[in-house]
Amino acid sequence: MLSHPSSKYQPFPLITLPNRQWPTRHLASAPIWCSVDLRDGNQALAVPMNVSQKLEMFDALVKCGFKEIEVGFPSASNTEFSFNRRLIEENRIPDDVTIQCLVQAREDLIEKTVESLIGAKKVVIHMYNSTSPAQRKYVFGKSKEEIIAVAVNGAQLIKDRLHRLTSGGTRVTLQYSPESFSATEVEFAKEISEAVMEVWEPTPEHKMILNLPDTVEVAMPNVYADQIEWICTNIKKRNSLIISLHTHNDRGTGTAATELGLLAGADRVEGTLFGNGERTGNLDIVQVAMNLYMHGISPGLDFSDMNGLIRMYERTTGMTVAPRHPYSGELVFTAFSGSHQDAIKKGLAGYEQHQTAWDVPYLTIDPNDIGREYREVIRVNSQSGKGGVAYLLESEFGIELPKDMQREFGPLANEIVDTLGREVTATELKEMFWNEYIERDSPYALHHFHADGVDGVFTCRSSLVIHGKERGVVGKGNGPIAAFANALIEDAGAPSFEVTTYREQSLSSGTEASALAFIQIRVNEGKTVWGAGVDTNIELASIKALLSAVNRVI
Ligand code: KIV
Ligand code: ZN
Repeated sequence: MLSHPSSKYQPFPLITLPNRQWPTRHLASAPIWCSVDLRDGNQALAVPMNVSQKLEMFDALVKCGFKEIEVGFPSASNTEFSFNRRLIEENRIPDDVTIQCLVQAREDLIEKTVESLIGAKKVVIHMYNSTSPAQRKYVFGKSKEEIIAVAVNGAQLIKDRLHRLTSGGTRVTLQYSPESFSATEVEFAKEISEAVMEVWEPTPEHKMILNLPDTVEVAMPNVYADQIEWICTNIKKRNSLIISLHTHNDRGTGTAATELGLLAGADRVEGTLFGNGERTGNLDIVQVAMNLYMHGISPGLDFSDMNGLIRMYERTTGMTVAPRHPYSGELVFTAFSGSHQDAIKKGLAGYEQHQTAWDVPYLTIDPNDIGREYREVIRVNSQSGKGGVAYLLESEFGIELPKDMQREFGPLANEIVDTLGREVTATELKEMFWNEYIERDSPYALHHFHADGVDGVFTCRSSLVIHGKERGVVGKGNGPIAAFANALIEDAGAPSFEVTTYREQSLSSGTEASALAFIQIRVNEGKTVWGAGVDTNIELASIKALLSAVNRVI
């Protein structure tokens, strides 16, 4: 990078806007939404959608509640053209949905576009030409007057062909975009737009759409808002226009630019689901809609099944939604930090109790409203201490380690976490516990256990697999565990020990209830060791716990 970037890059000039109004306004209702997923979004895909993918996306957009959908650029490819024809001929467009098509100001392209729309009920013909100084100079090599002539000529060509649609009952709305508007002098944007308006002659009863694109974000969003307010204030026949915003996200402020543009007087917003589109993408329409929703304003779009919508989007576009993408990302309703989790728990409990307005810390909306769930991710690292380990096993799996066993397992778990050099999840921690205690079947593995008692004396007749070989063992004691302990010591050659602590609890995973037993034994030198066993039968769980402890000693 340059040490003096000003030698190469210039700040964008500010707009002179005396009596600026937008900073003190607030949004009170939703704009008209127009999805451009099937055009701007689609044209930016490495592999554009095929007709069946476009149909799937179209149906999903209709289901979300979009009433205006830019379906493509029918003069640009056969796929786009035949997509239009299928939508129209197979009657797939609901009566309250308008389809929109993009076209450049060229006769052959306009001709083809009109042809693709014959038979539709409601359409927007969207014509654009580029107007910024750089486009005029480098791309077209045309003066301002010549650029205006391109727009006026295109507008006339469209006007001349309208009867081909209207005579068949099609309701047509016209839309003009001075492409690269945000990099264009506002005075010139006004001049060229008014020249198009003179041809199209919009009225308050039959308005035209003037779309003012932030084709490439070149300034802060307040500058875009100034440009929109400047046009809204200065353009002729404002009440015959629907002012539309179309922001991209080059500086990462597409959402902010749209929201400020609405404050500045715009009526309509174009964008895509999750911000798909050229370069850094188009405006993420879901974000603006959900931002309205979180202020209690009904957006008129329904994202109740956000997960389903993401699956459709990923399937049809091949794009993914980033895990931290606002509202839709996988992690946006997940808390990792203990203090956040605590605050959310308390906030949710308060909301449940009082049912007042939503003000749960760290959660901007109730995830259930969009079919999501709040999730806590609790993890331990090598610094977490035995308490953290025990808390995780208990809170996530209901495993209540005896205090003294926590002192044994805590350091063992921390040592493994340290070797891994990262935090581990509760599931990984449970696996460590299982490896260390429950799955300890060497040298002694239980093959069969049986014990019965007469007059308080229990005889255990069991079989073990010892170093791969099965053999029977017998022992006596004042209970089944004592009898099995004696069988191990006296018959199976285990080192001498005594049972010092025994605890059991029930565990339920899924539909199956099982018991978890913990046994602590003391060996000759006075050292204590824990074991644990799981079984649907509590007696067998304790026998396995004893074997686990003995195996761990050996
Ligand atoms: O970004 C843009 O300027 C466009 C226009 C065609 C509206 O997509
Ligand atoms: Zn665009």
